[in-house]
Amino acid sequence: MEKGQLLYEGKAKRLYATDKPEILWVEYKDSATAFNGEKKAEIAGKGLLNNKITSLLFEKLQKAGIASHFVQQLSDREQLVQQVSIIPIEVVVRNIVAGSMAKRLGIAEGTVLARPIVEFYLKNDELGDPIITEDHIELLELATSAEVEQLREKAVAINQVLIGFFHEIGVDLIDFKIEFGRDSNGAILLADEISPDTCRLWDAKTKQKLDKDVFRRDLGNLTDAYELILTRLGGQHS
Ligand code: C5P
Repeated sequence: MEKGQLLYEGKAKRLYATDKPEILWVEYKDSATAFNGEKKAEIAGKGLLNNKITSLLFEKLQKAGIASHFVQQLSDREQLVQQVSIIPIEVVVRNIVAGSMAKRLGIAEGTVLARPIVEFYLKNDELGDPIITEDHIELLELATSAEVEQLREKAVAINQVLIGFFHEIGVDLIDFKIEFGRDSNGAILLADEISPDTCRLWDAKTKQKLDKDVFRRDLGNLTDAYELILTRLGGQHS
């Protein structure tokens, strides 16, 4: 497999073509951003940790019957993925109130929800990723109503599986963001990444934050927290 031209550079990853049709080469960067890019830093080792954690979780999800764009981990910082057309909707699932939900609705952080809440956000940096309804999705022609139903169902199923993985390692899954894409047949696949950058993860006993809130709120050493998640998931840190 040959790495081809750079197709896209985002805040946390670079995407390259390969010599194989419909297979892309992803490289995880060390850049950390928060508050829609207002807070920025380079954190040595973050890209490596997110690549390893995402690869491990996508492999585990595939074994649990959740299809994704993930093909294989190539190296510490690189993985191969199937090319999909990303649906510009960020799907957030919440089990415990935190972050923007606590702020928006005035509910105390840490409140346990009776059932998971699914939210949709428009993936648009210029607009600051606003929260949107299914009517907005239809208006903007981002997805059909049948596809929105699929996004919701898949998100809830992924949440159930992830809660189990994290429970086994003594971690509570508070909330997370996922993205989906359409493959060349129009089938919807889980895409992007699942890592402590995109999830809130609290130690089940101590409630210590083991995710990007460590960076957002200056709570200590980010890579120590991510390393703990990787090693508890059974991954090796080099
Ligand atoms: O900020 P908020 O509370 O809405 O975030 C909900 C979840 O989605 C958190 O786990 C956060 O890390 C993730 N998220 C993300 N990328 C965004 C917005 C939120 O990964 N652009």
